[in-house]
Amino acid sequence: MRVLVSGGAGYIGSHTVLALLDAGHDVVVVDDFSNSKPTVQGRLEALSGKHVPFHAFDLTDADKTEQLFVHEQIDAVIHFAGFKAVGESVSEPLRYYQNNLDATFSLLRAMQRSGVSKFVFSSSATVYGENAPVPYQEDYEYLSASSPYGQTKVVIERVLSDVAAVHEGWKVALLRYFNPVGAHPSGQIGEDPQGIPNNLMPFIAQVAVGRRERLTVFGDDYPTADGTCERDYIHVMDLAEGHVAALEHLGDLAEPVRAFNLGTGTGTSVLQMLHAFERATGKELPYEVGPRRAGDLAAFWADPARANTELGWRATRTIDEICADTWRWQSANPQGYPGA
Ligand code: UD1
Repeated sequence: MRVLVSGGAGYIGSHTVLALLDAGHDVVVVDDFSNSKPTVQGRLEALSGKHVPFHAFDLTDADKTEQLFVHEQIDAVIHFAGFKAVGESVSEPLRYYQNNLDATFSLLRAMQRSGVSKFVFSSSATVYGENAPVPYQEDYEYLSASSPYGQTKVVIERVLSDVAAVHEGWKVALLRYFNPVGAHPSGQIGEDPQGIPNNLMPFIAQVAVGRRERLTVFGDDYPTADGTCERDYIHVMDLAEGHVAALEHLGDLAEPVRAFNLGTGTGTSVLQMLHAFERATGKELPYEVGPRRAGDLAAFWADPARANTELGWRATRTIDEICADTWRWQSANPQGYPGA
């Protein structure tokens, strides 16, 4: 298939581009580089040995999006592009709703006009909200996220369900990611957050490389084995392969829209993650325990059974591989990607 990857220069998008090429698909990327670097293109081409066409524009521009579908032959869309910083979404909700929804609307309209009906959406476990039983299962009905960022995922899932229900032949996979971490084993592409990282793994990696003094563990008095929060960390290459599996199984879906958890089914605590990273680097990594972070849940992980059986996909990489691959990326690129 020839797949349009929106946000293909970003963290998960770039790894998925490689997984698609590896599986024999063709890729076209659209990315406005608002939270990524153009240097990613050269790295993807060097790693894959293939030309990867990039279109640099903002998908909220509906005319440009429509033109893209006129000029490029596209069989399916994987939609990553969107703002994703939880805290920023709380202070700028309108910007988040507008950007994430408008980009999706542009894509869906352009697809409708040009007869493209296969769509894979980058959703998040955040849609399960605060009260879903753990492990999370896809048929949980009361989706609601605690941040505007998360709420854009809930709303877009709903929009996709409504659109696919009335348009003959549409097939949509909603992929609910748990905590994506790790990097391509080459160390050439990885996560490159701008400013102070919000998420645990890039923060630990920046402590290890000397960019940050110490990790602050957000609370050690949770009702978990060691008192720190537990999450389902999934290697970004497993996640990327999950997109390829979803794409290739779209035709088999019994319903127009189907949600899939992409996780491992196992929780790992903040301190377990820190100690695993110490093993990967051979260094002791300084940390202190701080107060809880507002909005954090104690522990959650996926029930990945549906993706395992219906997509024939399974996360196979271990926490130690995650840390080794993250360290290979971070130590080779201490400041992330070079600028344009
Ligand atoms: C966060 C978002 C979630 C988003 C996901 C992927 C929140 C509340 N949730 O998930 O909506 O989909 O990222 O980007 O922000 N931690 C520390 N110290 C740090 C950073 C994190 O102790 O400096 C802890 C957190 O308290 C948490 C765990 O590490 O227990 C994982 O945090 P993080 O990587 O931010 O992911 P989530 O909060 O699970």
